[in-house]
Amino acid sequence: MSDGSSFSITTPIFYVNDVPHIGHAYTEVAADFMARWHRQRGDDTWLLTGTDEHGQKILRTASANDVSPKEWADRLVTDAWKPLLDTVDVRNDDFIRTTDERHERGVTAFLQKLYDDGYIYAGEFEGFYCVGCEEYKQPSDLVPGTGAYEGQQVCAIHSIPVEVLSERNYFFRMSDFEQRLLDLYESNPEFIQPESVRNEIVSFVKQGLRDLSISRSSFDWGITIPWDHDHVLYVWFDALLNYVTALGYGSDDDEAFQRLWPSVHIVGKDIARFHAVIWPAMLMAAGLPVPKRVFGHGWLLVGGEKMSKSKLTGIAPSEITDTFGSDAFRYYFLRAITFGQDGNFSWEDISARYQAELANGFGNLASRILAMIDKYFDGAVPTRGELSTSDQAIDDLAVDVTTRADAAIAAFAPHDAITTTWELVDALNGYITEQQPWALAKDDAQRERLGTVLATALRGLGTVAVLASPAMPKATEKLWASIGAGGSIAEQRVDRAWEWQSATRITSLESGLFPRVEQAEQGAA
Ligand code: MSP
Repeated sequence: MSDGSSFSITTPIFYVNDVPHIGHAYTEVAADFMARWHRQRGDDTWLLTGTDEHGQKILRTASANDVSPKEWADRLVTDAWKPLLDTVDVRNDDFIRTTDERHERGVTAFLQKLYDDGYIYAGEFEGFYCVGCEEYKQPSDLVPGTGAYEGQQVCAIHSIPVEVLSERNYFFRMSDFEQRLLDLYESNPEFIQPESVRNEIVSFVKQGLRDLSISRSSFDWGITIPWDHDHVLYVWFDALLNYVTALGYGSDDDEAFQRLWPSVHIVGKDIARFHAVIWPAMLMAAGLPVPKRVFGHGWLLVGGEKMSKSKLTGIAPSEITDTFGSDAFRYYFLRAITFGQDGNFSWEDISARYQAELANGFGNLASRILAMIDKYFDGAVPTRGELSTSDQAIDDLAVDVTTRADAAIAAFAPHDAITTTWELVDALNGYITEQQPWALAKDDAQRERLGTVLATALRGLGTVAVLASPAMPKATEKLWASIGAGGSIAEQRVDRAWEWQSATRITSLESGLFPRVEQAEQGAA
């Protein structure tokens, strides 16, 4: 399988019953940022995303809209889910749909293998099912309903009544894997992250695992069970397999699977359990390696509540990108939220950070340095003379910040990588204030010193640009066109960001990197 230099990362595949909101976009951006960083450190990188299209939830939405489930899924994928990737500037390597033929083929092969090897059996089942979660619930997962559902038991997550299902089903022998899962969590403590999610899952498994009902016969929108055509596969069993079917598992060409599996899974903490319990158990049963890591990130909250369409707190990503642009969207969510914890979104917060950290912090820094090289040296990048301790401190900080930002990525802490990069932004702004190049420019005797200061500032600026490029591909590409020695900034090594080469001449920025945002536009007020 893959060696240390491959980095394969996935997002969850999203339900197509509705259009994306900023919670979904947050997951996409986090995974894309990690992938871009790894690509820029020379790793063999692969980012997979896609859509989850089977199951009762999609079937019901399609019926309510008088179209077939496949037509509904096609429409949502084309009009909403694929466009989301452009809206927030995600550079994925593949997009899998669970209705793809390649997926259905791989799932069928996997199921047949588990059946042949005795991991699947037929049985009777009765339980409470939540269609919102697409999951059977334990009585302890239910709470008393309120309002229209007064007197009924409802799902604690979706606040809708559960349905009592009684069916003859096929079961996966998940209970066989209880000890092996606990051994996995213990021998590989980083398998589930962060710690809070890990603890929750370990105690869940310690309470004992039941076998999992994996087929349904009351509807037919799903992958047919190969040995019993009256049943379709449970939607989660189907969906989890996307991570390997996309790499060619079960096909004649599984080169990508051999090279890239196991992957790292980025998921919302709400679905970490499916990924850290059911999924590794399925893989163990099939004799395949378990994922490298399951990272459960936190929820985006709006007004203190988990954002969701059904609770009418959903915000479309384009509402934010139309005002601030995709770079600021990405930067904001990556920096403002500690990865792994919940984070509150507010228009005031994004506006404040846009102004302080992007427009005034990074944008002004770039404009000032380039304008001064333009003005005092006619755009020719000056050569440096002897370095003072302040100049040397900037050079040293560029190396130090790069090393620490790269280590933050290895530790799955994108917020730390960005905060660390901004130490260099702040230091450069302080350096310019302190060195006062405009004062040096008034004295001909200080010409060499002026050149050294501006060249030092430019070197630091280029390092910031390279380090910020995985978060803000567009603004940094624009800056690169003004300062870089050619090519795309996406080709620059982020783990050696201080080594970049400038052009011999720079061009000043025609407009700022982060244009002024009018107060009136904010919040689509
Ligand atoms: N289809 C399943 C996943 C199958 S993966 C094999 C599913 N889809 S989903 O569309 O409901 O949600 C997927 C993911 O969207 C969540 O795990 C999470 O990553 C993200 N989010 C949805 N709402 C969110 C927030 N309010 N905040 C942060 N992320 C959110 O579950």
